[in-house]
Amino acid sequence: MQTTENLTELLPQLTLEEKIKMIHAAGLFRTDGIERLGIPGLHMSDGPNGVRQEFEDDAWQTVDDGGDYSSWLPSNTCLASTWNPELAFYFGQILGNETRGRGKDIILAPGVNIKRTPLCGRNFEYFSEDPVLTGTLATSLIQGIQDNDVAACVKHFALNNQEQDRLEVEVEVDEKTLQELYLPAFHDAVIDGSSLTVMGAYNRFDGSYCCESERLIQKVLREQWNYDGVVISDWGGVHNTEEAALHGVDIEMSVTSDFDNYKMASPLYEKVKSGEIPESVIDEKVMRILSLMEKLRMNNPSRKPGCFNLVSHHSTIEKIAAEGIVLLKNDTGHLPLEAGTDGERRNRILVVGDNATRTHAGGGGSAEVKALYEITPLLGIRMALGGNTICDWLPGYYVDNEELLHVEGGDWQADSLNEYHDKSKDQKNLTDDVLARRRQYLEEAVAAAPDYDEVIFVGGLNHSFDVEGVDRPDMKLPYGQDEVISALADTVENLTVILVNGSPVEMPWIDRVHSLLQTSYYGMHGGLALARVLFGEVNPSGKLPETYPLCLDDTPVSQYHSYPGVRQADGHPHVTYSEKLMVGYRYYTTKGVPVLFPFGHGLSYTTFFCRNFHVVVRNMDSIGELQITVSCEIQNTGRCYGKETLQLYVGIPEEGQPKMALRSFEKVALKPTEKREVSLILTQRDFSTYSVEEKRFIARPGNYPLYLGVSSENILYETSIDLLKEYPC
Ligand code: BGC
Repeated sequence: MQTTENLTELLPQLTLEEKIKMIHAAGLFRTDGIERLGIPGLHMSDGPNGVRQEFEDDAWQTVDDGGDYSSWLPSNTCLASTWNPELAFYFGQILGNETRGRGKDIILAPGVNIKRTPLCGRNFEYFSEDPVLTGTLATSLIQGIQDNDVAACVKHFALNNQEQDRLEVEVEVDEKTLQELYLPAFHDAVIDGSSLTVMGAYNRFDGSYCCESERLIQKVLREQWNYDGVVISDWGGVHNTEEAALHGVDIEMSVTSDFDNYKMASPLYEKVKSGEIPESVIDEKVMRILSLMEKLRMNNPSRKPGCFNLVSHHSTIEKIAAEGIVLLKNDTGHLPLEAGTDGERRNRILVVGDNATRTHAGGGGSAEVKALYEITPLLGIRMALGGNTICDWLPGYYVDNEELLHVEGGDWQADSLNEYHDKSKDQKNLTDDVLARRRQYLEEAVAAAPDYDEVIFVGGLNHSFDVEGVDRPDMKLPYGQDEVISALADTVENLTVILVNGSPVEMPWIDRVHSLLQTSYYGMHGGLALARVLFGEVNPSGKLPETYPLCLDDTPVSQYHSYPGVRQADGHPHVTYSEKLMVGYRYYTTKGVPVLFPFGHGLSYTTFFCRNFHVVVRNMDSIGELQITVSCEIQNTGRCYGKETLQLYVGIPEEGQPKMALRSFEKVALKPTEKREVSLILTQRDFSTYSVEEKRFIARPGNYPLYLGVSSENILYETSIDLLKEYPC
């Protein structure tokens, strides 16, 4: 049969049955095509960290024919720590190329939800607590993905900021906070990034499930933003045929294999047949799907074929991983470490900690990847060191929940994980066997440590904490790691601590540890990237995309008692975002709450100096465009090549606004002694707030503080500008 590339022309030829077939799943990760007309089906795959392994069409059973090993990319938290949009684009290109290479049309990524609480189990899949950092990086990433004739799928729209009760929690948030904090990253991703698809969220908002939300999907996405792409439900996110058809998604996906009984399958067919729902509603959805297929050139023989597991992918993945590593502390200048021989003697390094040998790719829920390979920190360190250094390993701490580490799809094991978390919160509940092993591992490490030139502790979290479907019980390091780190710090001077974690942790030992590196799950070459940073081959330039508070009690959701929500008479847990805009650094800087490490913090092995700060205001009245340029000269004053990220924050003189909000940033690479002029540009949008009465963003006259710095707390230059008139945005 002759196929056409102009698929949208086929709409009039489709029967109602065929159209219905196109708007719901026919397999766990696919929709049906219409063979008679040469319309292909859509094939989808998770997720943000690489293309997931193959599943049977109608069962959550992996195919396991060995043909689906893929590259494991760094998590979005790691990518966000690079603060580098160019790397986000390369990341997207790899993800898109591998998606297409695996024969898919849509990759279910990226996740752009704002990190509202450090406890959210899926934080590692998200970028940041800040919408500008999230939106900027997601935009580049999506452009990279879609360069490959595949679609990105921005998720989870919207307000999906916790895993606890994720399938039913009703989020209560005021319109201003919604528009100013929780929607902007989605706006950037779908409008600036032109994401071809969006995934609705599981949770509820304004009395509806998000996948059926007239307010979110019709009013915001379609009307306010004029979005004409395809909206896909989260798996099982549709609950009501009529609501979904009239106000919600274009494609219903779910987790069971009774595809013909999905809400947007037979039940919808019946409602259209009986005239309860107009066929034009179905036509609009099908038209959007056909148009998506055209954009992906699905019937074009020269559609890009894609490619996976390329060696070139792996070297870029290593670069991203290295740039996503954050040097949190280097008080004594102990890092980078020296390796090799010391005169005649081979240097001796002791690596301690379960995360030094643990692989993470295959965990976390739907973001899991069947990695082609994964270089652990121990392997990476040994690869980087070569044979002139002795490098031994000890576990240091005992992981007592091995069976919960590779969770497929979260919800299935949520109960066991919650039970484990509850139990292990209290030392009293630990069995004698666990206590004995903890003691033994600690004592072995402490006894061995003095015999080595360097001791490197590699700990943090793993995917029984950073995981879909379950939030963390607290912000503490699990498995008694605090004791191990403290004991090592008391025993040896030459200790470096490395934390691998997707969300902030408390560090009660922080004053005793002088060299500290942090990374999120950082892809298949992570261990090698880490070694290159440790031994100075790569100068770290990562910056935290979220605040590390001193303790859980200090976080806004704890202070406002606004998490995880309370079950109400309608049967749903309700969570009220009563902290409003005071999320992350917005809260800490406004209230003057001291933190462990601020948003945007990250050190380097070199030093930078900034001078000649100035502001140029160009008020181009003729076209109504305001342009404010904040500039300075930055110089590398140290001894090695390095990168620094300048961050520009704006204060909005309006009741309820935070002291400062990030509006622009730029990462600069400089050789020793090299200097450069850096200019960050603001427009009226950066001074605007949402007017609930007028239903639009407006920049109002007033005096606006500006802060240029290298973290939200390390401000190098502070000034202010006056807006003399109102600017619509
Ligand atoms: C997750 C989505 C994922 C989907 C398909 C859901 O449980 O929330 O992020 O894309 O499953 O695996």
